[in-house]
Amino acid sequence: MNISTKKMAAFYAGLLVAIVTGAVAASPQPIPPTSLDFRNTATGEPLDLNLSLPDGRDTPGVRKFFQTGVDPYIDDLSCLKPGQSLFLTACSGCHGEDAQGDIGPGLNDDYWTYPKNEHDQGIFETIYGGARAQMGPHYTQLTLDQMLQVIAWVRHLYKDPVQYAYWLNAEQKKNYKPYTEANGKMIAALPANTPGQCAPSAK
Ligand code: HEC
Repeated sequence: MNISTKKMAAFYAGLLVAIVTGAVAASPQPIPPTSLDFRNTATGEPLDLNLSLPDGRDTPGVRKFFQTGVDPYIDDLSCLKPGQSLFLTACSGCHGEDAQGDIGPGLNDDYWTYPKNEHDQGIFETIYGGARAQMGPHYTQLTLDQMLQVIAWVRHLYKDPVQYAYWLNAEQKKNYKPYTEANGKMIAALPANTPGQCAPSAK
Protein backbone atom coordinates (compact mmCIF):
# COMPACT_ATOMS: atom_id res chain seq x y z
CA MET A 1 0.00 0.00 0.00
CA ASN A 2 1.34 3.45 -0.81
CA ILE A 3 0.56 6.36 1.45
CA SER A 4 -2.48 7.56 -0.37
CA THR A 5 -4.00 4.05 -0.45
CA LYS A 6 -3.38 3.78 3.31
CA LYS A 7 -5.02 7.14 3.83
CA MET A 8 -7.98 6.08 1.75
CA ALA A 9 -8.30 2.83 3.72
CA ALA A 10 -8.20 4.73 7.02
CA PHE A 11 -10.78 7.17 5.69
CA TYR A 12 -13.19 4.40 4.68
CA ALA A 13 -12.64 2.53 7.97
CA GLY A 14 -13.47 5.74 9.83
CA LEU A 15 -16.52 6.33 7.67
CA LEU A 16 -17.75 2.79 8.36
CA VAL A 17 -17.35 3.30 12.13
CA ALA A 18 -19.21 6.61 11.88
CA ILE A 19 -22.05 5.02 9.93
CA VAL A 20 -22.36 2.05 12.31
CA THR A 21 -22.19 4.08 15.56
CA GLY A 22 -24.38 6.80 14.05
CA ALA A 23 -26.99 4.21 13.17
CA VAL A 24 -26.92 2.77 16.69
CA ALA A 25 -27.16 6.19 18.37
CA ALA A 26 -30.00 7.31 16.11
CA SER A 27 -32.05 4.14 16.38
CA PRO A 28 -35.27 5.31 18.04
CA GLN A 29 -37.08 3.39 20.75
CA PRO A 30 -40.21 1.60 19.54
CA ILE A 31 -43.57 3.35 20.05
CA PRO A 32 -45.56 1.18 22.50
CA PRO A 33 -48.75 -0.39 21.13
CA THR A 34 -51.93 1.66 21.53
CA SER A 35 -55.53 1.56 20.41
CA LEU A 36 -56.02 5.24 21.28
CA ASP A 37 -56.83 7.51 18.36
CA PHE A 38 -54.62 10.57 18.91
CA ARG A 39 -55.88 13.70 17.12
CA ASN A 40 -54.62 17.25 16.65
CA THR A 41 -56.53 19.61 18.97
CA ALA A 42 -57.07 22.34 16.37
CA THR A 43 -57.51 20.37 13.13
CA GLY A 44 -58.71 16.92 14.25
CA GLU A 45 -56.07 15.35 11.98
CA PRO A 46 -54.43 12.13 13.26
CA LEU A 47 -51.16 12.75 15.12
CA ASP A 48 -48.06 10.99 13.81
CA LEU A 49 -46.34 9.56 16.91
CA ASN A 50 -43.34 8.57 14.78
CA LEU A 51 -42.32 12.23 14.86
CA SER A 52 -41.66 12.00 18.62
CA LEU A 53 -38.11 12.24 19.98
CA PRO A 54 -36.23 8.90 19.77
CA ASP A 55 -35.87 8.47 23.55
CA GLY A 56 -38.51 8.40 26.29
CA ARG A 57 -40.96 6.44 24.14
CA ASP A 58 -40.77 2.92 25.47
CA THR A 59 -41.01 3.67 29.21
CA PRO A 60 -43.34 1.87 31.65
CA GLY A 61 -45.29 5.14 32.04
CA VAL A 62 -45.82 5.69 28.30
CA ARG A 63 -46.73 2.01 27.87
CA LYS A 64 -49.37 2.32 30.62
CA PHE A 65 -50.71 5.62 29.25
CA PHE A 66 -51.02 4.18 25.73
CA GLN A 67 -53.08 1.29 27.17
CA THR A 68 -55.39 3.34 29.40
CA GLY A 69 -55.36 6.98 28.27
CA VAL A 70 -54.66 7.85 31.91
CA ASP A 71 -51.41 9.54 32.94
CA PRO A 72 -49.91 7.23 35.61
CA TYR A 73 -47.63 10.03 36.93
CA ILE A 74 -50.39 12.34 38.26
CA ASP A 75 -49.72 11.83 41.98
CA ASP A 76 -46.18 10.44 41.88
CA LEU A 77 -43.72 12.84 43.59
CA SER A 78 -40.79 11.46 41.59
CA CYS A 79 -42.58 12.65 38.40
CA LEU A 80 -43.96 15.93 39.78
CA LYS A 81 -40.44 17.15 40.45
CA PRO A 82 -39.13 16.82 36.86
CA GLY A 83 -42.59 17.85 35.60
CA GLN A 84 -42.31 21.12 37.49
CA SER A 85 -38.91 21.96 36.02
CA LEU A 86 -39.99 21.00 32.48
CA PHE A 87 -43.09 23.21 32.87
CA LEU A 88 -40.92 26.14 34.01
CA THR A 89 -38.69 25.70 30.94
CA ALA A 90 -41.24 24.89 28.24
CA CYS A 91 -44.62 26.32 29.30
CA SER A 92 -44.60 28.96 32.04
CA GLY A 93 -43.26 31.72 29.74
CA CYS A 94 -46.70 31.76 28.09
CA HIS A 95 -49.00 30.18 30.69
CA GLY A 96 -47.52 31.76 33.86
CA GLU A 97 -45.43 30.23 36.61
CA ASP A 98 -48.46 28.73 38.38
CA ALA A 99 -50.34 28.22 35.07
CA GLN A 100 -52.56 31.16 36.01
CA GLY A 101 -52.49 32.39 32.39
CA ASP A 102 -50.54 35.03 30.46
CA ILE A 103 -50.13 35.01 26.64
CA GLY A 104 -51.70 31.55 26.84
CA PRO A 105 -54.83 30.71 28.85
CA GLY A 106 -54.83 29.60 32.49
CA LEU A 107 -54.38 25.85 32.91
CA ASN A 108 -55.07 25.77 36.66
CA ASP A 109 -58.83 26.42 36.58
CA ASP A 110 -61.97 24.55 35.51
CA TYR A 111 -62.46 26.42 32.21
CA TRP A 112 -61.01 24.85 29.07
CA THR A 113 -61.18 26.34 25.56
CA TYR A 114 -60.99 22.73 24.36
CA PRO A 115 -62.97 20.53 26.80
CA LYS A 116 -60.92 17.51 25.73
CA ASN A 117 -58.09 18.90 27.89
CA GLU A 118 -60.11 17.73 30.93
CA HIS A 119 -58.80 14.29 30.05
CA ASP A 120 -55.19 13.15 29.91
CA GLN A 121 -55.41 11.96 26.32
CA GLY A 122 -56.73 15.37 25.25
CA ILE A 123 -54.10 17.43 27.04
CA PHE A 124 -51.41 15.08 25.73
CA GLU A 125 -52.69 15.70 22.19
CA THR A 126 -52.59 19.48 22.77
CA ILE A 127 -49.01 19.35 24.03
CA TYR A 128 -47.81 16.91 21.37
CA GLY A 129 -49.46 18.52 18.35
CA GLY A 130 -50.18 22.09 19.54
CA ALA A 131 -53.42 24.05 19.10
CA ARG A 132 -53.86 27.50 17.56
CA ALA A 133 -51.81 30.72 17.52
CA GLN A 134 -48.70 30.48 19.67
CA MET A 135 -49.52 27.06 21.07
CA GLY A 136 -47.04 25.17 18.89
CA PRO A 137 -46.40 21.43 18.84
CA HIS A 138 -43.93 20.16 21.45
CA TYR A 139 -42.89 16.82 19.92
CA THR A 140 -39.46 18.18 18.98
CA GLN A 141 -38.86 19.56 22.47
CA LEU A 142 -40.21 17.00 24.97
CA THR A 143 -40.10 13.21 24.85
CA LEU A 144 -43.40 11.32 25.18
CA ASP A 145 -42.43 10.46 28.75
CA GLN A 146 -41.62 14.10 29.56
CA MET A 147 -45.05 15.14 28.25
CA LEU A 148 -46.62 12.84 30.85
CA GLN A 149 -44.41 14.46 33.52
CA VAL A 150 -45.50 17.96 32.44
CA ILE A 151 -49.17 16.90 32.47
CA ALA A 152 -48.73 15.58 36.03
CA TRP A 153 -47.42 18.99 37.07
CA VAL A 154 -50.17 20.93 35.26
CA ARG A 155 -52.78 18.77 37.02
CA HIS A 156 -51.02 19.41 40.32
CA LEU A 157 -51.40 23.20 39.79
CA TYR A 158 -55.21 22.88 39.64
CA LYS A 159 -56.99 25.09 42.20
CA ASP A 160 -60.74 24.85 41.43
CA PRO A 161 -63.52 22.56 42.75
CA VAL A 162 -62.58 18.92 42.70
CA GLN A 163 -65.79 17.82 40.97
CA TYR A 164 -64.52 19.39 37.74
CA ALA A 165 -61.15 17.62 37.95
CA TYR A 166 -62.32 14.90 35.55
CA TRP A 167 -58.78 13.51 35.23
CA LEU A 168 -58.75 12.31 38.87
CA ASN A 169 -60.12 8.94 39.97
CA ALA A 170 -62.31 8.62 43.09
CA GLU A 171 -59.34 7.96 45.38
CA GLN A 172 -57.37 10.92 43.96
CA LYS A 173 -60.43 13.16 44.35
CA LYS A 174 -60.65 12.23 48.02
CA ASN A 175 -57.01 13.27 48.53
CA TYR A 176 -57.25 16.44 46.41
CA LYS A 177 -55.97 19.70 47.91
CA PRO A 178 -55.82 22.91 45.86
CA TYR A 179 -52.30 23.90 44.86
CA THR A 180 -50.31 26.24 47.09
CA GLU A 181 -46.99 27.97 46.47
CA ALA A 182 -45.56 26.24 49.56
CA ASN A 183 -46.34 22.91 47.96
CA GLY A 184 -44.51 23.98 44.77
CA LYS A 185 -41.44 24.87 46.84
CA MET A 186 -41.62 21.58 48.71
CA ILE A 187 -41.64 19.63 45.45
CA ALA A 188 -38.78 21.67 43.97
CA ALA A 189 -36.74 20.83 47.09
CA LEU A 190 -37.23 17.06 46.78
CA PRO A 191 -34.02 15.12 46.06
CA ALA A 192 -33.49 14.03 42.45
CA ASN A 193 -33.64 10.36 43.46
CA THR A 194 -37.05 10.58 45.19
CA PRO A 195 -38.41 7.04 44.78
CA GLY A 196 -41.18 6.45 42.24
CA GLN A 197 -41.83 5.77 38.57
CA CYS A 198 -39.65 8.68 37.39
CA ALA A 199 -36.64 8.00 39.66
CA PRO A 200 -33.51 7.44 37.58
CA SER A 201 -33.18 3.87 38.88
CA ALA A 202 -36.76 3.08 37.85
CA LYS A 203 -36.09 3.98 34.17
C1 HEC B 1 -45.26 30.45 22.98
C2 HEC B 1 -46.34 30.43 23.95
C3 HEC B 1 -46.79 29.10 24.49
C4 HEC B 1 -46.02 28.08 25.01
C5 HEC B 1 -44.50 28.00 25.14
C6 HEC B 1 -46.94 27.06 25.46
N1 HEC B 1 -48.23 27.45 25.21
FE1 HEC B 1 -49.90 26.38 25.62
N2 HEC B 1 -51.03 27.80 24.72
C7 HEC B 1 -50.58 29.01 24.22
C8 HEC B 1 -51.68 29.71 23.61
C9 HEC B 1 -51.62 31.08 22.94
C10 HEC B 1 -52.82 28.89 23.73
C11 HEC B 1 -54.23 29.12 23.18
C12 HEC B 1 -54.33 28.32 21.88
C13 HEC B 1 -55.74 28.08 21.37
O1 HEC B 1 -56.71 28.57 21.97
O2 HEC B 1 -55.87 27.34 20.36
C14 HEC B 1 -52.37 27.70 24.45
C15 HEC B 1 -53.22 26.64 24.80
C16 HEC B 1 -52.84 25.57 25.61
C17 HEC B 1 -53.75 24.57 26.12
C18 HEC B 1 -55.25 24.50 25.87
C19 HEC B 1 -55.96 25.23 27.02
C20 HEC B 1 -57.48 25.16 26.98
O3 HEC B 1 -58.09 26.03 27.65
O4 HEC B 1 -58.07 24.28 26.34
C21 HEC B 1 -53.01 23.71 26.89
C22 HEC B 1 -53.50 22.49 27.64
C23 HEC B 1 -51.65 24.17 26.84
N3 HEC B 1 -51.58 25.31 26.05
C24 HEC B 1 -50.59 23.57 27.51
C25 HEC B 1 -49.26 23.95 27.34
C26 HEC B 1 -48.16 23.24 27.95
C27 HEC B 1 -48.28 22.07 28.90
C28 HEC B 1 -47.02 23.86 27.50
C29 HEC B 1 -45.60 23.46 27.77
C30 HEC B 1 -45.21 22.12 27.35
C31 HEC B 1 -47.42 24.98 26.67
N4 HEC B 1 -48.79 24.99 26.59
C32 HEC B 1 -46.55 25.87 26.06
C33 HEC B 1 -49.28 29.45 24.27
C34 HEC B 1 -48.18 28.69 24.64
